[in-house]
Amino acid sequence: MEGPLVIVVTGSSRGIGKGIITLLAKQNITRPLYIYATSRNGTKTGVEVLAPNKVLYRTLDITDSSSIQSLFAQVLASHGAIDILINNAAVSNDYRETLEYAAETIWTNYGGTRDMCAAFLAQPIIPPGARIVSVTSGMNALSTSYGVQLQTRFRQATSIDDLDALAKGYLADMSRGPDAQRAAGWGSGARSYKVSKALIETLTIVLAQHHPEVLVNNCCPGWTNTEMGKQGKGTPPKTIEEGAMTAVRLAIGDLGPGGDGAGGLGIEGERVSGMFYENENIMVAGWGKAKVWRET
Ligand SMILES: NC(=O)c1ccc[n+]([C@@H]2O[C@H](COP(=O)([O-])OP(=O)(O)OC[C@H]3O[C@@H](n4cnc5c(N)ncnc54)[C@H](OP(=O)(O)O)[C@@H]3O)[C@@H](O)[C@H]2O)c1
Repeated sequence: MEGPLVIVVTGSSRGIGKGIITLLAKQNITRPLYIYATSRNGTKTGVEVLAPNKVLYRTLDITDSSSIQSLFAQVLASHGAIDILINNAAVSNDYRETLEYAAETIWTNYGGTRDMCAAFLAQPIIPPGARIVSVTSGMNALSTSYGVQLQTRFRQATSIDDLDALAKGYLADMSRGPDAQRAAGWGSGARSYKVSKALIETLTIVLAQHHPEVLVNNCCPGWTNTEMGKQGKGTPPKTIEEGAMTAVRLAIGDLGPGGDGAGGLGIEGERVSGMFYENENIMVAGWGKAKVWRET
């Protein structure tokens, strides 16, 4: 049997991150899965693990560069390379949006994901078949609420500098009040979560263009029964394992148009990168279908 596939998952203390490690840990594919389940307090969630897979718990705060460096140093010292990064950790402060909370949302969701990707891509060896998966949201859509010029800036971004400029520009416009935010094309009301997810989507496309050696994709988990999911009105219909399905497929499954319809996750993986995957709607469970985000 080949050596293990080494996978790092962020924000696995609860919610969809816990669903991702639960679903990964029970897979029986051609290689053992060594799953680094990370969270700010190193929570041991006690998921059931099918041998020879392993779940290894570590602390990680994605907003803290020394925490990121320490995690990568530990995992690389043990294995030499990380095959798959799943960026799941995020916050949503929509219900209490202030400038401070908006900045926390932007720099955790976008900034933390950006820095995790940079650390992954800075590994001494990028293993063949390396993948990055980011959990975003259907709320990343550009077609609603953004002004035309801003949509164009997102769609034409080609570098991390372009993305950082968009992130800082949003916070600067927001700090000048609701009228300035709207006049600058960001839309009305609490927008930081949506902007952060649009930035990660653009990051996905930019990294896929610059790193053909890595498959970089992102997905919406659908409306899932977690602390964040319960911020919406009503009861989220999806369990955490259902919410984890598309991210798990993008991490270890077939990426072709048919996807892993029946749930058999093999690692033969068609080469699809820079795409956004989601199910028909946020209420249904499934392995997800690819969509061209720039058109949404
Ligand atoms: N639930 C939904 O319906 C839904 C819908 C669309 C998209 N999503 C996306 O799905 C992903 C998971 O969301 P969820 O619903 O599972 O949310 P959740 O229950 O609130 O869990 C969020 C996770 O992120 C972690 N986290 C937050 N800040 C962090 C940081 N600085 N460093 C490391 N970890 C951090 C949290 O860890 P702590 O325990 O340390 O706080 C927690 O494990 C997110 O990307 C979210 O945007 C969710």
